Amino acid sequence: MESAVQYLLLALALASVQISYTESRLNEKRRDKTERRFYSNQIKDNICDIADRDSKVHCYCENTEEKTATRADCWVFNGGIDKSDPLWASFNTQPFLERLTFNVRSNGALKFIPLQVIKRLKRLQKLYIHYADLGKIEKKTFSNMSAVREIILMHDNITELDFSSFTNLPSLVNLTIKENKVTEIQRDVFVDLSSLRYLDLSFNSINLAHDGCFEHLTILNDLILEANSITILTRDTFRGLANLTRLDLRSNKLSMIGDLTFTELWNLNELLLDNNKLKYLSERAFDGLVLLQKLSMTGNKLKSINEGLLEGVRGLELLDLRNNEIEHFTYENVKPIIDNLKMKTSVLYLSGNKLMCDCHISWIKVLRNETTSDILQAALDDITCIPNYSEDYETNSVTEYDASPKTVSEVVTSTMVHQINNDEQLEGTNQALKTDPTVEPFIKEQLPIVNMPSGALLCSREMVQNKEDSLMLKSIGKVLWGGNASSKLRVYSSLVLKLLFLLAILK
Ligand SMILES: *[C@@H]1O[C@H](CO)[C@@H](O)[C@H](O)[C@H]1NC(C)=O
Ligand SMILES: *[C@@H]1O[C@H](CO)[C@@H](O)[C@H](O)[C@H]1NC(C)=O
Ligand SMILES: *[C@@H]1O[C@H](CO)[C@@H](O)[C@H](O)[C@H]1NC(C)=O
Ligand SMILES: *[C@@H]1O[C@H](CO)[C@@H](O)[C@H](O)[C@H]1NC(C)=O
Ligand SMILES: *[C@@H]1O[C@H](CO)[C@@H](O)[C@H](O)[C@H]1NC(C)=O
Ligand SMILES: *[C@@H]1O[C@H](CO)[C@@H](O)[C@H](O)[C@H]1NC(C)=O
Ligand SMILES: *[C@@H]1O[C@H](CO)[C@@H](O)[C@H](O)[C@H]1NC(C)=O
Repeated sequence: MESAVQYLLLALALASVQISYTESRLNEKRRDKTERRFYSNQIKDNICDIADRDSKVHCYCENTEEKTATRADCWVFNGGIDKSDPLWASFNTQPFLERLTFNVRSNGALKFIPLQVIKRLKRLQKLYIHYADLGKIEKKTFSNMSAVREIILMHDNITELDFSSFTNLPSLVNLTIKENKVTEIQRDVFVDLSSLRYLDLSFNSINLAHDGCFEHLTILNDLILEANSITILTRDTFRGLANLTRLDLRSNKLSMIGDLTFTELWNLNELLLDNNKLKYLSERAFDGLVLLQKLSMTGNKLKSINEGLLEGVRGLELLDLRNNEIEHFTYENVKPIIDNLKMKTSVLYLSGNKLMCDCHISWIKVLRNETTSDILQAALDDITCIPNYSEDYETNSVTEYDASPKTVSEVVTSTMVHQINNDEQLEGTNQALKTDPTVEPFIKEQLPIVNMPSGALLCSREMVQNKEDSLMLKSIGKVLWGGNASSKLRVYSSLVLKLLFLLAILK
């Protein structure tokens, strides 16, 4: 019994020793913590290793030790953070960052560019800010950062770029200000960017690009203006962009392209004008683009193409005119690039238009037969035309229009005859259409051109006559005046033409 009591006392004593020991260990730990907190209050947290779960910014770095991180991906959380927040000083622990990203997790949580952090990072090469609310970019915001190669500001509610907002960034190669709300590009926004090769301003609301607004960017290769609201381009819009190879103007609101708009872009390789509202291209719209290989204008409202349009872009290897409203695309249109189409792996896309089934497109059948390119064959197979049912073809009296007249005499002798439809028949057709509105107006029906029988692609006498007049004029002009056809000479040559015709008929 006695020994049992002794044992119990001993056990109690041991337990109390154990407890006091644990207590002291705990106290030690607490002391440690307060010491650490005291210490960190003086030199701040390491931005790559923030313990506070409620911190407004958390960064993930590939190395977290002080002064070792080169990459930080930072998340800015709800509640917002202002310029004076002590947290910004935590970036001082990582002065060697080369790549810094801010991803903002909620609207309005970051309303400024943390320049006090960025400008101290002397090795910073890449800066990404996404989903901030930045509004206007003030003068010289991005300036004097000698190592920065890439700045990407995406979805940042940027509304305005002030003069010189990007200046003196000698290493900057890539500047992307995408998915913002910029409405205007003034002059002298992009200044002293001697390495800039890639400028992406897509998915903004730009409706005006001032003359010469890109003129300091002499070595720029790519200019992306896709998905804006640009309505007008002048000869000076792209002034100075001598090294541009790719210009993306897709999905804007352009309705016409005037003479020499791209004339300074003599290195341009690729011009994308798809999904605009283009109705009119002036004859010399693309003059100067001697190196252009790809010209794409799908999804516009083009009805006709000037015959001289492609004279200035004879090097084209891809011409895409799908989904327009083109009614005639003649041999004269395609002539400047026909050799490319025959010999090289060039392609011409013309489907989805309103081509009339007449003699002016018979060259398509010929080209389809001549080309060995699968891609071109497939592209030509897709082209359809609208038959003119109001015409009454009398195939006996008609010969197929020679699509590629070579000499004046050939033009003169290839006169074709065609009986114009008789009016009664036309009346009948119209009445049938009127009285039964549920009938699909069959005139809209499109037929693949390559399947049309030879002799189906015909023109009426007047159409051919007009065609020939202009061809003759050109040929005669060329023969007599070496290609120089000023308007006075044109008038004169039309007199000669009529004389020649009289002679031909008299024969
Ligand atoms: C974008 O900026 C405008 C004007 O500065 C402001 O009214 C709007 O609330 C901002 N939108 C967002 C989503 O931050
Ligand atoms: C940028 O550098 C230039 C010359 O080196 C200096 O004159 C200018 O004040 C600097 N600008 C800023 C905003 O630091
Ligand atoms: C520029 O950055 C964008 C976005 O990261 C990228 O898609 C593009 O390829 C870059 N261009 C160059 C030339 O580095
Ligand atoms: C244009 O770019 C090429 C390389 O892309 C370069 O060799 C050439 O010097 C540039 N031209 C100008 C005027 O900067
Ligand atoms: C296609 O070319 C062959 C040989 O070059 C020729 O015999 C044939 O008549 C041509 N067919 C058409 C429809 O042009
Ligand atoms: C169809 O042919 C007639 C007779 O040649 C012509 O007057 C008319 O303009 C043509 N229609 C179209 C849409 O070309
Ligand atoms: C064509 O002739 C006119 C006057 O005759 C002249 O002014 C013009 O320079 C010439 N154009 C070409 C391309 O020779």
